[in-house]
Amino acid sequence: MSDPLLAVSERFAWAFAAVAGEVVDPVVRPSDHADAQINGALGVAKKLGTNPRQVAEQVLVAVGDVSDMCSGLEIAGPGFINVTLSNQFLSTQLKSAMNDQCLGVRVAPIRLTAVVDYSAPNVAKEMHVGHLRSTVIGDSIVRLLEFVGHTVIRENHIGDWGTPFGMLIEHLIDIGQNTAAQELGVGDLDGFYREARNKFDADDAFKERARARVVLLQGGDPDTLHLWRTLVSESTRYFNQVYQLLDVLLTDADIVGESSYNDLLAPVVERLREAKLLEVSDGADVVFPAGFTNRDGDPLPLIIRKGDGGYNYATSDLACVIDRVERLGASLLIYVVGAPQAQHLSMVETVATQVGWLAPPVQMMHVAFGNVLGSDGKMLKSRVGDTVKLAALLEEAVERATAAIAQKNPDMSEHERSQVAHMIGIGAVKYSDLSTDRVRDYVFDWERMLSFDGNTAPYLQYAHARMCSIFRRAGIERTAVRSVMPTILDPRERALAIRVLQFDSAVWDALDRYSPHRLCTYLYELATDFTAFYEHCPVLKADTDEQRLSRLNLCDAAARVLECGLNLLGIRAPEQM
Ligand code: ARG
Repeated sequence: MSDPLLAVSERFAWAFAAVAGEVVDPVVRPSDHADAQINGALGVAKKLGTNPRQVAEQVLVAVGDVSDMCSGLEIAGPGFINVTLSNQFLSTQLKSAMNDQCLGVRVAPIRLTAVVDYSAPNVAKEMHVGHLRSTVIGDSIVRLLEFVGHTVIRENHIGDWGTPFGMLIEHLIDIGQNTAAQELGVGDLDGFYREARNKFDADDAFKERARARVVLLQGGDPDTLHLWRTLVSESTRYFNQVYQLLDVLLTDADIVGESSYNDLLAPVVERLREAKLLEVSDGADVVFPAGFTNRDGDPLPLIIRKGDGGYNYATSDLACVIDRVERLGASLLIYVVGAPQAQHLSMVETVATQVGWLAPPVQMMHVAFGNVLGSDGKMLKSRVGDTVKLAALLEEAVERATAAIAQKNPDMSEHERSQVAHMIGIGAVKYSDLSTDRVRDYVFDWERMLSFDGNTAPYLQYAHARMCSIFRRAGIERTAVRSVMPTILDPRERALAIRVLQFDSAVWDALDRYSPHRLCTYLYELATDFTAFYEHCPVLKADTDEQRLSRLNLCDAAARVLECGLNLLGIRAPEQM
C-alpha cells in the first residue's frame, strides 16, 4: 500500500472506532487546504448527538503520536481534521514504493481466475467501432487484472457459427476458394457478406442450397467443414492485422468462437430440462428468466432452441458459462460487450443462476460501453455511409501522427520517426477511447486525440519523453539514482510525490469499476503535477548535488509510474519524441 491517504485512513480508523464505539470509515479526502482532510467526525457526531469539533478533538487524543506520518494536524471548520504529511514520511514511502515491483500498488487479497471475453468480431463481417471499443477496453482490463496478481484467460468469442454460414459457404463455392480468400484476406469482409446476402434474398435456388448447406455444416460434413474453415481463417487473418496494428494482447490462441461450444449445446438443453426450467413457446424451447417482461408486461423468453432445431446466441452464451466455470474454474466472468446487449447478458446471467451454474463466489460482470460518434453526433460511419474499415482508420492514425512528429521534432531519424509515430497514432486512438467513462458515447475527433495539449495520449507520452530526456542531458543512467533517498521539501515536490504514491489507489479505482478512464484521469494529473514541478524546481541546475540527485530520483519515479500506467492502458511510452 503506498497511497498516503489510505495510510492516514488506516491509522485513524482505530481512533475513530475508540471514540464512536464501533467501526467507522474516517473518510479521508484530498483537499485544497491540506494534503488530506479527515471528514469522519461529522458522521460520528451526528450518531452520538454531540458536537463534531469535540469528536475531532477526542479522535486526536485517541490516535496518540502520529508524528512519524503527519507533521501537522489541525481541526478546521465544522470538525474536519486537516493533515499535513511529514516530508520524512513521504520520502520513505516513495523509496519503498519505488523498490516494489508493482510500484506500491497493492496486490489482490484473493487471487482469482478471470475470463475476459472481449473483441469478439464476426466472421465474414467487418469489425465495427464497437469491436474496437471492446478490444481496447478489454485489453486494458486484462492488463490491470494481471498486474494485481489475478490469473486471466483471454477469450475472443468470435461469431463463427449459425445459419448465415450456409449462404456464406455457398457464395464461397460460387466465386471459388481463391477469390474468396483474396477478398476476405484483404479485409473486404462486408463486400463478401453483402454479395452472399443479396443472392440469398434474390435467388430461391441459392436459398435452398444455403439451407441444405447449414444442415451439412451442423452434421459435420468434412467438405463443408473445410470450406467453413477457409472462411474463418481468412477472416481471422484480417482481424489479426487489426490486432497487430492496435498492439493488443490477443492472439489466435485466444479465439474461442461460438463454434467451439457445439458439443455443449445439447447438454445445455438437457440440463435446463432436468431443472424443469424449459418450456415450449411458439414451437421453440425457451426459458422465462425471473423478472423479465416485455412492454405489455408479458414474461420475456430466452430462446434456447428454435422450432427448426437450431440453437441460438443465448444457447452458446449459456454453454460459455458452463465451460468457463466448470472446465476453466474461473470465478470472475467478464464480458466486454456494448451496452445494447445488456438485456441479453442479464437474461443469460439470470438463467445460469436459476439453474445453478452461476453461484457465489462466481461472479458474472457485464462491462458495457457506449457508442463512437462522428462529428455529426451520429454513429461513426465512413464517408459513403458504410462501416468504417478499422485497418484503414488505424493506418490513418499513424499517418497523422507521422506528420505531427515531423513538425515537432524534424531532426528525428526516419526509422525512429516511424516507430514513434506508430506509438503515438495508435496510442491516441486507444487513449481517446479509454479516457471517457466507458458507459458514455464519445466523439471520434482526430484533432483532439492527436493534440499535444490536454488529456490525450500524445500529452502523456510527451511528458514521459521529457522526463527521460532530463537523464540524457544529465548523462546519468536512470537506475543510478534509484538508491537515493529523496528529500521532499518544495510544495511542488510534495504534490508530485503524493501523486506518484497515489498510483496505488488509481489502479484500484480503475479496476474496482472496470473503468480505465479513472486511471487516465490520474495519469493526466500526474503529468500536470510533473509540469508544475519541472517549471519551479530546477533539476539539472539544482542548488546542491544532493538536491539534484533527489530531484532526479523524483523524475525517475514519475516516469516509471507514467510508463507503467500507460502500459496498463496498452499504450507505449517512447523515451524520445
Ligand atoms: N459477436 C458478438 C457481436 O459482434 C459479440 C459477442 C460478445 N460475447 C458474448 N459472449 N456474447 O455483437
